[in-house]
Amino acid sequence: MIKLNDIINIKTEKLTYGNDALSRYGEEKFVIFIKGALPNEELKVKITSLNKKFARAEIIEILKPSSHRIKPFCAIYNACGSCQNQICDYDYLIEQKTLILKDIFRDIIDEKLIYPIIKSPKTLNYRHKIQYCARQTKNSKRILLGYYKNNSHNLTNIKFCPIQPEIINTITQFIRDNFPLDCYNEKNHKGLLKNVLFRINSSNDEILLTLVLNSTQDDFINFESPIFKFSKKISTQFSELKGIFINFNPLKTNNILGKETIKIFDKDYIIETLKDKKYYIGATSFFQINPCAASCLFDVVKNSIKNNSTILDAYGGVGAIGIYCSKKAKKITLVEENENAVLMAQKNFQLNNIKNFEILKGDAKKHFIDFQKENKKFDYVILDPPRSGCDKEGLLSISKTANKIVYVSCNPQTLKRDILELKKENFIPKFIQGVDLFPYTYHIESVVLLERE
Ligand SMILES: C[S@@+](CC[C@H](N)C(=O)[O-])C[C@H]1O[C@@H](n2cnc3c(N)ncnc32)[C@H](O)[C@@H]1O
Repeated sequence: MIKLNDIINIKTEKLTYGNDALSRYGEEKFVIFIKGALPNEELKVKITSLNKKFARAEIIEILKPSSHRIKPFCAIYNACGSCQNQICDYDYLIEQKTLILKDIFRDIIDEKLIYPIIKSPKTLNYRHKIQYCARQTKNSKRILLGYYKNNSHNLTNIKFCPIQPEIINTITQFIRDNFPLDCYNEKNHKGLLKNVLFRINSSNDEILLTLVLNSTQDDFINFESPIFKFSKKISTQFSELKGIFINFNPLKTNNILGKETIKIFDKDYIIETLKDKKYYIGATSFFQINPCAASCLFDVVKNSIKNNSTILDAYGGVGAIGIYCSKKAKKITLVEENENAVLMAQKNFQLNNIKNFEILKGDAKKHFIDFQKENKKFDYVILDPPRSGCDKEGLLSISKTANKIVYVSCNPQTLKRDILELKKENFIPKFIQGVDLFPYTYHIESVVLLERE
């Protein structure tokens, strides 16, 4: 039996969800997960944690590397936690992600119906939503903006990120050089600037900037003047900046955004174009971070829907999917709880000249239960919930309301849990199609069409 700190030689078998490689050791085939390894590699590893079911190990030496192993293209790949896998070629990573989907779903969906993942049309400069943490060095007070290294609160200052548009690197440097006040210090909960968020459209000419402050809206009066001066300076320098916002988050919390946001410069939104559809996107409303791959995802949804259907776009955000599928719709009902997203959705239906729509604000589960009580029926229900998936009671109600369900998910594990619930209500998965919205990360987005037996 292996012990903590043992150094052993192993061969890896496959990649698992989360991007650890799995190896089975010894006669009992004890499972060991190894970070930074690829399938079919021979490694010398050290056991770093252990329980009855599995161990974790770190690589000491790669004895025989995978033929797909490559040098990461980003100079700070090892220091930054944002991409989890730049160590194999992209095509191979897509194959591995498809195998991961098959591993997760083959016991509930016929393997032939788990299709190969669709690649992202862009694998560099694809990320159009950026959420940096802000910190300051102790002595020189230099501003650092970047991401935490994986599973830590050690910030990596990111001067150049190849997966986001170049202009964001330039604006970020301007903020480092010119932001007039202190950054947040997690240890003593002092300092002002907590996070810097960007939302940029795919033509890279419209950007929203949000500064998240460790302050209440009432206290803002103390910082108003330097922040307004800074806002003027940065917006004069970068014509791409269409709107600047302050979000107030005075709590000790892992949530990036606090409840209150105010606009301090110009527009409330940027405009994004996906094929023939246009969308207003606000600073705090959800929109897929990889717009060009989002079109591929939305095509899968659209192709699953028959003409002249009544469609419920649940967890609809700014209306992205419903509007994309609007040619197939007799009527679209959108359900969304985020106030800013609801406002944008209203504008987006009008912008795309869609007349037959209805927007219901509030908690999806509550609306699903109401639909069931009212005996309302939809030909198609598009479900696109957050990572945590849908609530069980809500799913039960929606199963009484929907004829067919198109489930869009960024978390295969909660997707599986929810499919199992829907199976109890006689909904059968017809296919599962992954789309790579997040190249070089472990994330997997997928669409499942479920039909009532
Ligand atoms: C994964 S996003 C999908 C948005 C949209 N379908 C799109 O593709 O742009 C999930 C959305 O659900 C909303 N949301 C989260 N919890 C909700 C709830 N309990 N009820 C209604 N909407 C919710 C979020 O505000 C967000 O807009």
